[in-house]
Amino acid sequence: MSTLVLKDGRIIDVNGDRTGDVVIDQDTGLIVAVGTGLAADHELDCEGLVISPGFIDLHVHLREPGLEAAETILSGSRAAVRGGFTAVVAMPNTTPTTDSVAVVEQVLAAGRKALCEIVPSAAISVDRKGEQLSPMAELMDSGVRIFTDDGNGVQDAKFMRSALEYAGGLPNDGHHVVLAQHCEVEALSKGGVMNEGEWSARLGLGGQPAEAEDLMVMRDIALCRLTGVRIHFQHLSTAGSVAMVRAAKAGGLPVTAEATPHHFSLTDACCAGFDPVFKVHPPLRTDEDVAAIKQGLADGTIDAIATDHAPHTPESKERSFDEAPPGMLGLETAFAVARDELDMSLQELLALFTSGPADVAGLGDRHGASLQSGRPANIAVLDLDHEWSVAGREMASPAINTPFEGRALKGKARHTFFQGEQVLNNFEVTR
Ligand code: DOR
Repeated sequence: MSTLVLKDGRIIDVNGDRTGDVVIDQDTGLIVAVGTGLAADHELDCEGLVISPGFIDLHVHLREPGLEAAETILSGSRAAVRGGFTAVVAMPNTTPTTDSVAVVEQVLAAGRKALCEIVPSAAISVDRKGEQLSPMAELMDSGVRIFTDDGNGVQDAKFMRSALEYAGGLPNDGHHVVLAQHCEVEALSKGGVMNEGEWSARLGLGGQPAEAEDLMVMRDIALCRLTGVRIHFQHLSTAGSVAMVRAAKAGGLPVTAEATPHHFSLTDACCAGFDPVFKVHPPLRTDEDVAAIKQGLADGTIDAIATDHAPHTPESKERSFDEAPPGMLGLETAFAVARDELDMSLQELLALFTSGPADVAGLGDRHGASLQSGRPANIAVLDLDHEWSVAGREMASPAINTPFEGRALKGKARHTFFQGEQVLNNFEVTR
């Protein structure tokens, strides 16, 4: 047996914030001891570093199958572990769409060679068209627990009701099925390429009103009340959505929500230079929306920080603002941007990357909750003092579309362990 001790780190998880050691059995991939004064075959000095459960990202686009020039499951997993993530939920807007067991199996097969756990999600509707339910029961048998038409919201209220009722009636292994919604009423957002407001008017670009999101959040809260089936709201971007989710939770409804770092750090003013790197769906909003999302993260309305990591090829992002595809990279910058922007304790911040998303996705048996003996060694070792500057070309993705290019940040994952294997060593991926 070969063991490694992470020595004298600041251990932060759901059990608290203390100094100590974590021993990993690298043969079994399990944590075998947590305490002080522990010894093992090998030692990694973690003095001055934070030892956290590995992060979970509920929302990434890995582009495989279909757009491997922008990202692959392997390259996306490298970006993930560079960001401290040990599990990522892969969105189903691939080509072909992840709406069949065959494509899920393809994603899972590529995932087995990845540096972190690839958790496949599948579409709610066939080809994400909102017309016919995907074979959810079969997809669940192949391991899927999260369904979403992300990239688009489910437009038809009756169809969404049917999806909720069907999913809610499926047998499961004790963990709820999650229907996750990209909230956008397309009848209102159509033709828009940025937030509708002062900036879209000034720039002469088509706008997407906040109400396009608010109305679908409102509708789905009503459908959640009607069916009793859980809904997860993806990438909240408006003050109105945050207020409605807060009220729904206070009323006892089983709703959860995520927010992205770009939606709580950037505004539509970023679009002033017509740079498509700032084009994203839902769009960057206003200062008031940013403040509301920060408040929602602080008071528990929003359960998780998720990146909506959306790689696009440099060529496609060089098109005009109107024509470029929406989306931004997020995995490698999420933690440092969140730390820079959010006024909360480190333990609270880490919960939004670990226990919060683990609860939403039902991954708490292996990711995100606590560092203790017997659990898989999925661990991020963070260097909070490390100063760095964002550079798209230095990231693991073939894509370079980070909206934070050139931003000076502090804090980064220095080491990441996935199932006991060191997949990030001193900021470098090991394979
Ligand atoms: O900006 C976005 N990009 N929003 C989405 O919903 C989809 C994503 C993508 O796939 O590029």
